[in-house]
Amino acid sequence: MEATIVLDNVKHYPVLLKEIISVISPQHGGTFIDCTFGQGGYTKEILNYKNTKVIAIDRDIECKKKANLIQEKFPDRFYFKNLKFSKLNHLKLKNENIKGIVFDLGYSFIQIKDQNKGLSFNSSGKLNMMMGLNEFSANEAVNNLENQDIEKILRYFGEEKDAKIISKNIVKFRTTKQVSTQDLVNIVEKSKRKKNFKVHSATKTFQALRIFVNKEISELIYGLINAVKILKKDGILAVVTFHSLEDKIVKYFFKNISENKSISRYEPKIDQKKIFFSMPKKKPIIPLSQEIKENYPSRSAKLRYIIKNDNSYNIDTDLVEKFSNLLEIENLGSKL
Ligand SMILES: C[S@@+](CC[C@H](N)C(=O)[O-])C[C@H]1O[C@@H](n2cnc3c(N)ncnc32)[C@H](O)[C@@H]1O
Repeated sequence: MEATIVLDNVKHYPVLLKEIISVISPQHGGTFIDCTFGQGGYTKEILNYKNTKVIAIDRDIECKKKANLIQEKFPDRFYFKNLKFSKLNHLKLKNENIKGIVFDLGYSFIQIKDQNKGLSFNSSGKLNMMMGLNEFSANEAVNNLENQDIEKILRYFGEEKDAKIISKNIVKFRTTKQVSTQDLVNIVEKSKRKKNFKVHSATKTFQALRIFVNKEISELIYGLINAVKILKKDGILAVVTFHSLEDKIVKYFFKNISENKSISRYEPKIDQKKIFFSMPKKKPIIPLSQEIKENYPSRSAKLRYIIKNDNSYNIDTDLVEKFSNLLEIENLGSKL
Protein backbone atom coordinates (compact mmCIF):
# COMPACT_ATOMS: atom_id res chain seq x y z
CA MET A 1 0.00 0.00 0.00
CA GLU A 2 2.91 2.31 0.63
CA ALA A 3 3.60 2.69 -3.09
CA THR A 4 0.02 3.89 -3.65
CA ILE A 5 0.35 6.57 -0.98
CA VAL A 6 3.59 7.81 -2.48
CA LEU A 7 2.12 7.76 -5.99
CA ASP A 8 -0.89 9.85 -4.99
CA ASN A 9 1.45 12.59 -3.84
CA VAL A 10 3.58 12.63 -6.95
CA LYS A 11 2.99 15.71 -9.09
CA HIS A 12 3.24 15.38 -12.82
CA TYR A 13 4.44 18.34 -14.90
CA PRO A 14 3.67 18.21 -18.63
CA VAL A 15 6.96 19.25 -20.24
CA LEU A 16 7.05 22.18 -22.72
CA LEU A 17 3.24 22.41 -22.54
CA LYS A 18 2.93 26.06 -23.63
CA GLU A 19 5.35 25.47 -26.48
CA ILE A 20 3.47 22.36 -27.70
CA ILE A 21 0.17 24.28 -27.66
CA SER A 22 1.68 27.16 -29.56
CA VAL A 23 3.05 24.74 -32.21
CA ILE A 24 -0.19 22.76 -32.77
CA SER A 25 -2.64 25.72 -32.29
CA PRO A 26 -5.76 23.96 -30.92
CA GLN A 27 -7.52 27.33 -30.62
CA HIS A 28 -8.66 26.82 -34.23
CA GLY A 29 -10.35 23.51 -33.30
CA GLY A 30 -9.76 20.11 -34.96
CA THR A 31 -8.78 16.55 -34.09
CA PHE A 32 -5.43 15.73 -32.48
CA ILE A 33 -3.67 12.47 -31.64
CA ASP A 34 -1.80 12.34 -28.33
CA CYS A 35 0.51 9.33 -28.77
CA THR A 36 1.82 9.45 -25.20
CA PHE A 37 -1.24 10.26 -23.07
CA GLY A 38 0.56 9.68 -19.70
CA GLN A 39 -1.26 11.75 -17.10
CA GLY A 40 -3.22 13.55 -19.80
CA GLY A 41 -1.35 16.84 -19.43
CA TYR A 42 -1.32 17.67 -23.16
CA THR A 43 -4.75 16.13 -23.82
CA LYS A 44 -6.49 18.17 -21.11
CA GLU A 45 -4.97 21.39 -22.38
CA ILE A 46 -6.06 20.67 -25.97
CA LEU A 47 -9.60 19.78 -24.84
CA ASN A 48 -9.86 23.11 -23.02
CA TYR A 49 -10.18 24.69 -26.47
CA LYS A 50 -13.65 24.53 -28.07
CA ASN A 51 -14.25 22.37 -31.14
CA THR A 52 -11.28 20.11 -30.44
CA LYS A 53 -11.23 16.33 -30.24
CA VAL A 54 -8.40 14.14 -28.87
CA ILE A 55 -7.63 10.54 -29.74
CA ALA A 56 -5.13 9.43 -27.09
CA ILE A 57 -3.04 6.27 -26.77
CA ASP A 58 -0.58 4.95 -24.21
CA ARG A 59 1.11 1.58 -23.77
CA ASP A 60 0.69 1.75 -19.98
CA ILE A 61 -2.74 0.43 -18.96
CA GLU A 62 -2.45 2.37 -15.67
CA CYS A 63 -3.16 5.52 -17.71
CA LYS A 64 -6.70 4.26 -18.29
CA LYS A 65 -7.76 5.54 -14.85
CA LYS A 66 -6.87 9.11 -15.79
CA ALA A 67 -8.37 8.60 -19.24
CA ASN A 68 -11.70 7.50 -17.70
CA LEU A 69 -11.91 10.77 -15.75
CA ILE A 70 -11.34 12.80 -18.92
CA GLN A 71 -13.85 10.62 -20.78
CA GLU A 72 -16.54 11.51 -18.19
CA LYS A 73 -15.89 15.19 -18.71
CA PHE A 74 -15.64 15.12 -22.52
CA PRO A 75 -17.67 12.06 -23.64
CA ASP A 76 -17.95 13.19 -27.27
CA ARG A 77 -14.53 14.73 -27.71
CA PHE A 78 -12.14 12.18 -26.20
CA TYR A 79 -11.22 8.60 -26.99
CA PHE A 80 -8.47 6.48 -25.33
CA LYS A 81 -6.85 3.23 -26.42
CA ASN A 82 -4.16 1.15 -24.69
CA LEU A 83 -1.83 0.85 -27.70
CA LYS A 84 1.83 1.25 -28.61
CA PHE A 85 2.49 4.14 -30.96
CA SER A 86 4.37 1.91 -33.41
CA LYS A 87 0.85 0.59 -34.14
CA LEU A 88 -0.71 4.00 -34.78
CA ASN A 89 -1.94 2.60 -38.11
CA HIS A 90 -4.28 0.28 -36.14
CA LEU A 91 -6.40 3.24 -35.03
CA LYS A 92 -9.68 3.39 -36.91
CA LEU A 93 -9.66 7.01 -37.98
CA LYS A 94 -12.43 6.87 -40.62
CA ASN A 95 -12.06 10.13 -42.55
CA GLU A 96 -10.89 12.16 -39.59
CA ASN A 97 -8.75 15.11 -40.65
CA ILE A 98 -5.95 15.01 -38.06
CA LYS A 99 -4.58 18.49 -37.41
CA GLY A 100 -1.75 17.46 -35.15
CA ILE A 101 0.05 14.44 -33.72
CA VAL A 102 2.14 14.79 -30.56
CA PHE A 103 4.71 12.50 -28.95
CA ASP A 104 6.16 13.25 -25.51
CA LEU A 105 8.66 10.42 -25.26
CA GLY A 106 9.99 8.61 -22.24
CA TYR A 107 8.33 8.03 -18.90
CA SER A 108 6.14 10.08 -16.63
CA PHE A 109 7.36 10.87 -13.14
CA ILE A 110 4.52 8.68 -11.86
CA GLN A 111 5.99 5.68 -13.76
CA ILE A 112 9.53 6.35 -12.53
CA LYS A 113 8.28 6.48 -8.94
CA ASP A 114 6.19 3.30 -9.34
CA GLN A 115 8.15 0.61 -7.44
CA ASN A 116 6.32 -2.16 -9.32
CA LYS A 117 7.63 -0.97 -12.68
CA GLY A 118 11.20 -0.94 -11.39
CA LEU A 119 12.29 1.75 -13.87
CA SER A 120 14.54 3.47 -11.37
CA PHE A 121 17.66 2.27 -9.60
CA ASN A 122 15.94 3.18 -6.32
CA SER A 123 13.43 0.36 -6.87
CA SER A 124 13.68 -2.83 -4.89
CA GLY A 125 13.11 -6.47 -5.80
CA LYS A 126 13.04 -8.18 -9.15
CA LEU A 127 14.15 -6.30 -12.25
CA ASN A 128 11.22 -5.31 -14.46
CA MET A 129 11.27 -1.99 -16.46
CA MET A 130 8.22 -2.90 -18.59
CA MET A 131 6.06 0.14 -19.42
CA GLY A 132 3.24 -1.97 -20.84
CA LEU A 133 2.49 -4.32 -23.78
CA ASN A 134 6.03 -5.75 -23.57
CA GLU A 135 7.41 -9.09 -24.74
CA PHE A 136 10.03 -9.56 -22.00
CA SER A 137 11.28 -7.89 -18.82
CA ALA A 138 14.68 -6.57 -17.74
CA ASN A 139 14.86 -9.57 -15.41
CA GLU A 140 14.71 -11.98 -18.37
CA ALA A 141 17.22 -9.93 -20.37
CA VAL A 142 19.83 -9.46 -17.63
CA ASN A 143 19.57 -13.02 -16.36
CA ASN A 144 19.56 -14.84 -19.71
CA LEU A 145 21.30 -12.94 -22.50
CA GLU A 146 24.90 -13.74 -23.35
CA ASN A 147 27.76 -11.54 -22.19
CA GLN A 148 28.39 -9.96 -25.64
CA ASP A 149 24.69 -9.19 -26.11
CA ILE A 150 24.43 -7.39 -22.76
CA GLU A 151 27.61 -5.50 -23.59
CA LYS A 152 26.16 -4.30 -26.92
CA ILE A 153 22.94 -3.14 -25.24
CA LEU A 154 24.83 -1.14 -22.61
CA ARG A 155 27.28 0.31 -25.11
CA TYR A 156 24.87 1.36 -27.85
CA PHE A 157 21.68 2.16 -25.92
CA GLY A 158 23.38 3.66 -22.87
CA GLU A 159 26.66 4.91 -24.34
CA GLU A 160 28.21 3.19 -21.31
CA LYS A 161 32.02 3.23 -21.62
CA ASP A 162 32.39 0.42 -19.07
CA ALA A 163 29.90 -1.86 -20.88
CA LYS A 164 32.44 -4.69 -21.24
CA ILE A 165 33.34 -4.98 -17.57
CA ILE A 166 29.76 -4.45 -16.38
CA SER A 167 28.38 -7.22 -18.62
CA LYS A 168 31.23 -9.56 -17.59
CA ASN A 169 30.43 -8.94 -13.92
CA ILE A 170 26.68 -9.45 -14.48
CA VAL A 171 27.31 -12.85 -16.05
CA LYS A 172 29.73 -13.79 -13.26
CA PHE A 173 27.26 -12.74 -10.55
CA ARG A 174 24.32 -14.67 -11.96
CA THR A 175 26.13 -18.01 -11.66
CA THR A 176 25.26 -17.82 -7.94
CA LYS A 177 21.86 -16.09 -7.96
CA GLN A 178 19.48 -14.09 -10.17
CA VAL A 179 20.40 -10.40 -10.54
CA SER A 180 17.84 -8.16 -8.80
CA THR A 181 17.52 -4.38 -9.21
CA GLN A 182 19.77 -3.64 -6.25
CA ASP A 183 22.26 -6.35 -7.30
CA LEU A 184 22.52 -4.64 -10.67
CA VAL A 185 23.15 -1.26 -9.03
CA ASN A 186 25.92 -2.82 -6.90
CA ILE A 187 27.49 -4.63 -9.86
CA VAL A 188 27.61 -1.39 -11.88
CA GLU A 189 29.01 0.60 -8.96
CA LYS A 190 31.79 -1.94 -8.43
CA SER A 191 32.56 -2.15 -12.16
CA LYS A 192 32.87 1.57 -12.92
CA ARG A 193 36.45 2.66 -13.39
CA LYS A 194 35.79 6.36 -12.79
CA LYS A 195 33.24 7.66 -10.33
CA ASN A 196 31.04 10.57 -11.42
CA PHE A 197 29.75 12.34 -8.34
CA LYS A 198 27.07 14.30 -10.22
CA VAL A 199 25.31 11.38 -11.93
CA HIS A 200 24.45 7.99 -10.39
CA SER A 201 26.82 5.29 -11.69
CA ALA A 202 23.90 3.12 -12.83
CA THR A 203 22.14 5.83 -14.89
CA LYS A 204 23.48 4.70 -18.27
CA THR A 205 22.98 0.98 -17.62
CA PHE A 206 19.38 1.56 -16.55
CA GLN A 207 18.70 3.82 -19.54
CA ALA A 208 20.09 1.15 -21.88
CA LEU A 209 17.97 -1.62 -20.38
CA ARG A 210 14.79 0.50 -20.41
CA ILE A 211 15.32 1.25 -24.11
CA PHE A 212 15.93 -2.44 -24.83
CA VAL A 213 13.03 -3.84 -22.79
CA ASN A 214 10.55 -1.33 -24.21
CA LYS A 215 11.95 -1.58 -27.77
CA GLU A 216 12.10 2.19 -27.82
CA ILE A 217 14.09 2.41 -31.04
CA SER A 218 11.61 0.53 -33.23
CA GLU A 219 8.70 2.11 -31.36
CA LEU A 220 9.97 5.56 -32.29
CA ILE A 221 10.95 4.69 -35.86
CA TYR A 222 7.63 3.03 -36.76
CA GLY A 223 5.66 5.55 -34.69
CA LEU A 224 7.13 8.39 -36.77
CA ILE A 225 6.67 6.56 -40.08
CA ASN A 226 3.00 5.84 -39.32
CA ALA A 227 2.34 9.34 -38.00
CA VAL A 228 3.48 11.10 -41.17
CA LYS A 229 1.20 8.87 -43.28
CA ILE A 230 -1.87 9.74 -41.18
CA LEU A 231 -1.42 13.50 -41.47
CA LYS A 232 -3.06 15.45 -44.31
CA LYS A 233 -1.98 18.79 -45.81
CA ASP A 234 -1.05 21.35 -43.10
CA GLY A 235 -1.05 18.64 -40.38
CA ILE A 236 1.65 19.05 -37.74
CA LEU A 237 3.86 16.42 -36.15
CA ALA A 238 5.51 17.51 -32.88
CA VAL A 239 7.91 15.36 -30.87
CA VAL A 240 9.51 15.96 -27.46
CA THR A 241 12.64 13.87 -26.84
CA PHE A 242 14.67 13.36 -23.67
CA HIS A 243 17.91 11.67 -24.67
CA SER A 244 20.40 11.96 -27.50
CA LEU A 245 19.51 8.65 -29.17
CA GLU A 246 15.83 9.64 -29.52
CA ASP A 247 16.71 13.13 -30.66
CA LYS A 248 19.17 11.78 -33.25
CA ILE A 249 16.40 9.66 -34.81
CA VAL A 250 13.80 12.46 -34.82
CA LYS A 251 16.29 15.01 -36.13
CA TYR A 252 17.42 12.72 -38.95
CA PHE A 253 13.86 11.81 -39.97
CA PHE A 254 12.57 15.38 -39.97
CA LYS A 255 15.54 16.53 -42.06
CA ASN A 256 15.23 13.52 -44.35
CA ILE A 257 11.60 14.20 -45.31
CA SER A 258 11.70 17.97 -45.33
CA GLU A 259 14.85 18.74 -47.23
CA ASN A 260 15.87 18.54 -50.84
CA LYS A 261 19.45 17.57 -51.53
CA SER A 262 21.63 19.13 -54.18
CA ILE A 263 23.40 16.43 -56.24
CA SER A 264 26.79 18.08 -56.09
CA ARG A 265 28.17 21.36 -54.88
CA TYR A 266 29.60 22.13 -58.36
CA GLU A 267 26.30 21.43 -60.04
CA PRO A 268 23.62 22.83 -57.79
CA LYS A 269 20.90 20.92 -59.59
CA ILE A 270 18.13 19.74 -57.32
CA ASP A 271 17.43 16.04 -56.96
CA GLN A 272 13.87 15.19 -57.94
CA LYS A 273 13.16 13.83 -54.47
CA LYS A 274 9.80 15.04 -53.22
CA ILE A 275 9.63 17.32 -50.21
CA PHE A 276 6.75 16.08 -48.07
CA PHE A 277 7.13 18.37 -45.06
CA SER A 278 8.49 21.74 -44.08
CA MET A 279 10.50 22.30 -40.93
CA PRO A 280 10.01 25.91 -39.78
CA LYS A 281 12.72 25.70 -37.11
CA LYS A 282 15.99 23.87 -37.65
CA LYS A 283 16.94 24.10 -33.97
CA PRO A 284 14.88 22.39 -31.27
CA ILE A 285 12.72 24.34 -28.82
CA ILE A 286 13.99 23.83 -25.27
CA PRO A 287 12.48 24.69 -21.85
CA LEU A 288 12.92 28.16 -20.38
CA SER A 289 14.94 28.43 -17.16
CA GLN A 290 11.71 28.93 -15.16
CA GLU A 291 10.38 25.52 -16.31
CA ILE A 292 13.68 23.82 -15.46
CA LYS A 293 13.54 25.42 -12.00
CA GLU A 294 10.02 24.06 -11.41
CA ASN A 295 10.59 20.66 -13.02
CA TYR A 296 14.29 19.73 -13.14
CA PRO A 297 13.91 16.61 -15.38
CA SER A 298 12.60 18.91 -18.15
CA ARG A 299 16.18 20.20 -18.63
CA SER A 300 16.95 17.59 -21.29
CA ALA A 301 13.70 18.03 -23.28
CA LYS A 302 13.86 19.04 -26.95
CA LEU A 303 10.81 19.81 -29.08
CA ARG A 304 11.00 19.49 -32.87
CA TYR A 305 8.12 19.78 -35.35
CA ILE A 306 7.30 19.56 -39.04
CA ILE A 307 4.28 20.58 -41.16
CA LYS A 308 2.92 18.46 -44.00
CA ASN A 309 2.89 20.03 -47.47
CA ASP A 310 0.29 17.84 -49.19
CA ASN A 311 -1.83 14.72 -48.79
CA SER A 312 0.89 12.16 -49.73
CA TYR A 313 0.63 8.74 -48.13
CA ASN A 314 3.77 6.99 -49.36
CA ILE A 315 6.52 8.98 -47.72
CA ASP A 316 9.96 8.16 -49.01
CA THR A 317 12.49 7.69 -46.16
CA ASP A 318 15.52 5.54 -45.36
CA LEU A 319 14.96 5.85 -41.60
CA VAL A 320 14.90 2.05 -41.03
CA GLU A 321 18.13 1.47 -42.99
CA LYS A 322 19.84 4.43 -41.36
CA PHE A 323 19.31 3.01 -37.86
CA SER A 324 19.49 -0.69 -38.77
CA ASN A 325 22.46 -1.23 -36.39
CA LEU A 326 20.33 -0.16 -33.43
CA LEU A 327 17.34 -2.20 -34.65
CA GLU A 328 19.61 -5.27 -34.83
CA ILE A 329 20.61 -4.83 -31.19
CA GLU A 330 16.96 -4.45 -30.23
CA ASN A 331 16.29 -7.71 -32.05
CA LEU A 332 18.51 -9.57 -29.57
CA GLY A 333 15.29 -9.70 -27.57
CA SER A 334 14.02 -12.40 -29.93
CA LYS A 335 16.49 -14.78 -28.21
CA LEU A 336 14.44 -14.53 -25.00
C1 LIG B 1 6.49 11.62 -20.58
S1 LIG B 1 5.04 10.69 -20.46
C2 LIG B 1 3.83 11.67 -21.27
C3 LIG B 1 3.23 12.69 -20.42
C4 LIG B 1 2.06 13.43 -21.06
N1 LIG B 1 2.48 14.26 -22.16
C5 LIG B 1 1.36 14.27 -20.03
O1 LIG B 1 1.43 15.50 -20.14
O2 LIG B 1 0.75 13.75 -19.11
C6 LIG B 1 5.31 9.44 -21.64
C7 LIG B 1 4.16 8.46 -21.77
O3 LIG B 1 4.35 7.78 -22.99
C8 LIG B 1 4.03 6.44 -22.85
N2 LIG B 1 4.76 5.70 -23.87
C9 LIG B 1 6.10 5.53 -23.97
N3 LIG B 1 6.41 4.79 -25.04
C10 LIG B 1 5.24 4.51 -25.66
C11 LIG B 1 4.90 3.77 -26.83
N4 LIG B 1 5.83 3.19 -27.57
N5 LIG B 1 3.59 3.69 -27.17
C12 LIG B 1 2.63 4.30 -26.42
N6 LIG B 1 2.89 4.98 -25.28
C13 LIG B 1 4.17 5.09 -24.92
C14 LIG B 1 4.46 6.11 -21.42
O4 LIG B 1 3.75 4.98 -20.96
C15 LIG B 1 4.12 7.40 -20.68
O5 LIG B 1 2.85 7.32 -20.11
